[in-house]
Amino acid sequence: MKKRILVTGGTGYIGSHTVVELINAGFEPIIIDNLSNSNIGVLDGIKRITGVEPIFENIDLKDYVSLNKFFQKYEGIEAIINFAASKAVGESVKMPVMYYRNNITSLLNLVELMPKYGINHIVFSSSCTVYGQPDVLPVTEQSPIQPATSPYGYTKQVCENIIRDTVKATVGMKSILLRYFNPIGAHPSAEIGELPNGVPNNLLPFVTQTAIGLRSELKVFGNDYNTPDGSCIRDYIYVVDLAKAHVMAVERMLDKKMKRSVEVFNLGTGTGLSVLEIVNKFMEVSGVNLPYQIAPRREGDIEKVWADPSLANKELGWKADTPLEDVLSSCWKWELKLQERREKDQQNS
Ligand code: WQD
Repeated sequence: MKKRILVTGGTGYIGSHTVVELINAGFEPIIIDNLSNSNIGVLDGIKRITGVEPIFENIDLKDYVSLNKFFQKYEGIEAIINFAASKAVGESVKMPVMYYRNNITSLLNLVELMPKYGINHIVFSSSCTVYGQPDVLPVTEQSPIQPATSPYGYTKQVCENIIRDTVKATVGMKSILLRYFNPIGAHPSAEIGELPNGVPNNLLPFVTQTAIGLRSELKVFGNDYNTPDGSCIRDYIYVVDLAKAHVMAVERMLDKKMKRSVEVFNLGTGTGLSVLEIVNKFMEVSGVNLPYQIAPRREGDIEKVWADPSLANKELGWKADTPLEDVLSSCWKWELKLQERREKDQQNS
């Protein structure tokens, strides 16, 4: 009998890549998603990659009654991976109430129902955003948690504390908090990838949409930072490497290898890259001359952050080792696939 893993937000960007890796590792993922920021067609993509179409329930985690009915229907769930949340920093500043209600209520419903159904394990999708602008780099799991610079970041800090307190109060409950740095890229098959709604906030989708001609030019938000080339530095991690870390975290929990009831891991490559380095590498990999211009700094951006991933390397046996060229190629291959689909849709319409 395959072990059942509930993946909330499983039709989303990181969620869908994690569902693929769970299937590859022999688990039975069950997806809950309200499709507020994803597309049900992702299920076909997962099936084309793995041959398996996972069970999918269109449920909003804020709906306690529906979530309770879900747990009555699906027995034997061994662990939950909770991706379901709104995640755009800029949007959260404009819509704080939606972010607090969505991200926090969803988690509260989950942790309240878990003990009722004998589910003791939860992996939580957290973010390097909790560190703010670190004083010391690279960032370790012991780096101080700085006051959040956005409602989005604050919901991650609040949710981490909800989990800690619930674990403390619930016999047998355990959790692994995974703090992502900057997820980028798409599955090598180009069957699934990042599907930003509207104008992308994040760098790579904007780069590839500019390269394909959907956007006229990329704006590089600032080249007057205290960095070698003046542009911001981030730790860009390949989404498939990130997905594999979630499988290893679930296996660590189920194999009872955890050393504490709550464990935290930074998931990054350990290497910081600037915006201009990414742009130049993308042009080299894609062969596209990317039109860009230096623009003013973006409100809320931090100057530089990258991870010390040694704890995850050691305890999870996990390493983000996909070469940058391959990661950027996967971004470009995915954008080309999306363009093919857009053109086909136009022909059919
Ligand atoms: C990266 C760099 C921009 C777009 C956010 C969230 C974080 C995580 C990842 C969820 C910055 C620059 C961007 C553009 C640019 N999400 N940039 N032109 O802000 O580091 O992190 O996404 O967990 O929580 O905060 O990612 O991709 O938006 O920006 O110059 O058109 O690219 O200024 O330096 P960010 P990003």
